[in-house]
Amino acid sequence: MIGPTGRITNLLLLLLLRGNLSTSFSQLRTPLHYDDTQEHSSWSSQNLSSVPEVLDVRLMHLDLSRNFIRHINSPGLYLPSLKTLDLSYNQLQTITEGAFRDVTKLQELNVARNLLSHNVDGNSQALGSLNRLRRLDLSMNGLDDDAAELYLRKKSVLEHLDLTGNLLMQLAPKQFADSRSLRSINMENNLITVIEKGTFEPLKKLETLNLAKNNLVYICDFKLHQIKLLNLSRNSIEVFFTSTDGQMYNLEILDLSYNKLLYFPMIPTTNQLRSLHLQSNMLGFLEADTMLSEASSLYRELKADDVNDAVEYDIYSNWRMMPLTSIDLSSNHFRSFPVEAVSQLTSLSTLNLSNNCIQAISYNMTKNGGGHGENFHPPSLTFPSLRFFSLQNNGLWQLSLFFLENLPSIETLNLRQNAEH
Ligand SMILES: *[C@@H]1O[C@H](CO)[C@@H](O)[C@H](O)[C@H]1NC(C)=O
Ligand SMILES: *[C@@H]1O[C@H](CO)[C@@H](O)[C@H](O)[C@H]1NC(C)=O
Ligand SMILES: *[C@@H]1O[C@H](CO)[C@@H](O)[C@H](O)[C@H]1NC(C)=O
Ligand SMILES: *[C@@H]1O[C@H](CO)[C@@H](O)[C@H](O)[C@H]1NC(C)=O
Repeated sequence: MIGPTGRITNLLLLLLLRGNLSTSFSQLRTPLHYDDTQEHSSWSSQNLSSVPEVLDVRLMHLDLSRNFIRHINSPGLYLPSLKTLDLSYNQLQTITEGAFRDVTKLQELNVARNLLSHNVDGNSQALGSLNRLRRLDLSMNGLDDDAAELYLRKKSVLEHLDLTGNLLMQLAPKQFADSRSLRSINMENNLITVIEKGTFEPLKKLETLNLAKNNLVYICDFKLHQIKLLNLSRNSIEVFFTSTDGQMYNLEILDLSYNKLLYFPMIPTTNQLRSLHLQSNMLGFLEADTMLSEASSLYRELKADDVNDAVEYDIYSNWRMMPLTSIDLSSNHFRSFPVEAVSQLTSLSTLNLSNNCIQAISYNMTKNGGGHGENFHPPSLTFPSLRFFSLQNNGLWQLSLFFLENLPSIETLNLRQNAEH
């Protein structure tokens, strides 16, 4: 007779048997969270020292993060339905070849904060069998250029890659030769000083590139038409130059904050730029005229191979075509209002000029507009769309009524911490 009690006893027995079969103490425990469909299983922060052996073969999502797992040995995981695997915050250093052979459906693997700079050859072989991965997080593993390259082998459908906080120094085309489907790459907080020509160009789907917190000094020949968001914040960038190839750039957000720019960046002629972050640079340190002529000759030098000596690089000529809605120029060295720059930007709704040394908003123009000659045409100084405008912490002691009249849409004008009078 099999009554309800009998069934429960059988179940208990089965669990006990399974428990006895396993060798590690961790396998006796039940997962933290195990849903009805048995598709999700979380063992996060359970002090596991190895992957539990008894896992439901139907599992689709497995979380083993924040444990003490060091090795994944053969025969490895038999989880043919598994789609996501989180192994972040363990001490993973050896993954035996073949350990991932039977997780062929895996799409997302998170191995952030492990020790994968060890046994790179073997481990990368093991990861090589995961050729359906769309998302891979390798951040904080102490990886150098060669290790990263090996881990990216056979990743032809990979879309999102995170390499934050590793030891990358020099990026080269071979690194991404096997991962041409990438849409986003995060390489924040590495030691990158060099990006070889042709590294990112072949990644036609790349939209988001984060290179913040590296050691880049020059971006001399930006030609990544496909990218929408480029983050170069917190490098040591002195020059940002785009060659004038007349092609359409998709760039929408460019973050050059916390760098050493003396000159406004030379942005693409045709672009979609909406948000430009230039805070905490050295803009305004040079007088407007000096800045313009120095930048122009510097940019001409950069393009010396392009023969056309007559090309005058007028930084602002491209600015007129920007659909920019927000520009942050705070914490620079402007002593006067950068009229030439901002007057071109008629879609602007946010302008941040706080933490500069602006003493007056005057209308002294410099040469501007296309090219040489005594070709003055004073830019119009109206900001039809400007809604937020900060001039906090400057040396202003007066504002002309004329200026205020030209801000028809203003909602917030921040004038705190200016010269007392
Ligand atoms: C893991 O180990 C720590 C330290 O021994 C202990 O305090 C904690 O309760 C353990 N956690 C679990 C889920 O067993
Ligand atoms: C760029 O990266 C820095 C550093 O992580 C971050 O603070 C900033 O918000 C990012 N910029 C954009 C536009 O996402
Ligand atoms: C303007 O810049 C200052 C200084 O960098 C910053 O504290 C403030 O949040 C910025 N305001 C906006 C609206 O971006
Ligand atoms: C305009 O420029 C002239 C000559 O450079 C200077 O003397 C004058 O003070 C400037 N005007 C303002 C309002 O800054």
